[in-house]
Amino acid sequence: ELGLFKHYMQKEIFEQPQALANTLELISGGAGISPLHFGARAPEVFDGVRRVLILACGTSYHAGLVARYWIESIAKIPVTVEIASEYRYRDSVPDADSLVVVISQSGETADTLAALKHAKALGMDRTLAICNVPESAIVRETALRFITRAGPEIGVASTKAFTTQLAAFALLTLALAKLNGRLNDADEERHLTALRHLPVAVQKVLELEPEIERWAQRFASKEHALFLGRGRHWPIAMEGALKLKEVSYIHAEAYAAGELKHGPLALVDKNMPVIAIAPADELLEKLKSNLQEVRARGGELYVFADAGSEIPESEGVHILHMPEHYGMLSPVLHVIPLQLLSYHAALVKGTDVDKPRNLAKSVTVE
Ligand code: M6R
Repeated sequence: ELGLFKHYMQKEIFEQPQALANTLELISGGAGISPLHFGARAPEVFDGVRRVLILACGTSYHAGLVARYWIESIAKIPVTVEIASEYRYRDSVPDADSLVVVISQSGETADTLAALKHAKALGMDRTLAICNVPESAIVRETALRFITRAGPEIGVASTKAFTTQLAAFALLTLALAKLNGRLNDADEERHLTALRHLPVAVQKVLELEPEIERWAQRFASKEHALFLGRGRHWPIAMEGALKLKEVSYIHAEAYAAGELKHGPLALVDKNMPVIAIAPADELLEKLKSNLQEVRARGGELYVFADAGSEIPESEGVHILHMPEHYGMLSPVLHVIPLQLLSYHAALVKGTDVDKPRNLAKSVTVE
């Protein structure tokens, strides 16, 4: 079943172009954005939605964090993203005009299911599941559903499930924006073109594997790593840190780059590699000054930059150039090298990549 691949994690990373193409089939050909992508009842459920509440765990939670940036900036609807195990146990203020979105690869995660039931018990009936398993417990509980078509994910580390969840959220963002009168025809066409081209763009990033493998060789001897990102790439830094911890057992932390001076900079010295997600967006200049702060303390930098970012390679500053800047969808491309980096660091360390110690694929206990 593994074919030419050594592990499921590697196979699943490389399946992402196909998984994305399958998930985005709804908009292939000339089809546009429609609420019906989310179920027959979507026009009625979405009608009058004033807020979005996203609930999930782990990697799925990170997909929700990216979605918050997209939905607020494009659909102009306020979004809250919460870890399911926190939401279910705290006193919160219910809002019947909220769309509750639960995200889960497996559809069986106990805390996510319980958080959904909790929201419903509080009177929130506008519910949507983004899930990779059509017959799962979570999908049976929601008014609406979007099934990602990643195919079975065997590796404990979530990879293709994450990028297809992002594709689902991109469609949701555009559907809500359209209903909200925030998406004109030209913008819709521009977003659709970018989405349709996404599998090819991901394929090009996957070709960077040999270079990332070389980075992983240097990396694997480290005990700690810091991941920095800003804006919609901050959750990507979080996802990179989670992946590295999970499969290579290297301790990793992610920070919003602006937080560096507020504490974590104290950790930076020559033994603390810093991985920076540096897309060529409006926040790049701010990020560059954070990188200088790291360099000044002797921290070694590993920068994932877009083509044309003009960050010079120098002593202690390693740059990997991504093929192109990809606008709103850039987080989908930037997570790929981080998945590969974790995978190859794990190989060097000799861990059980597909079944990391102490973890289960589906967390059905609390
Ligand atoms: O099946 P789910 O998406 O609900 O699972 C949530 C998390 O348990 C999961 O994403 C976990 O964090 C992954 N092992 C991360 O790679």
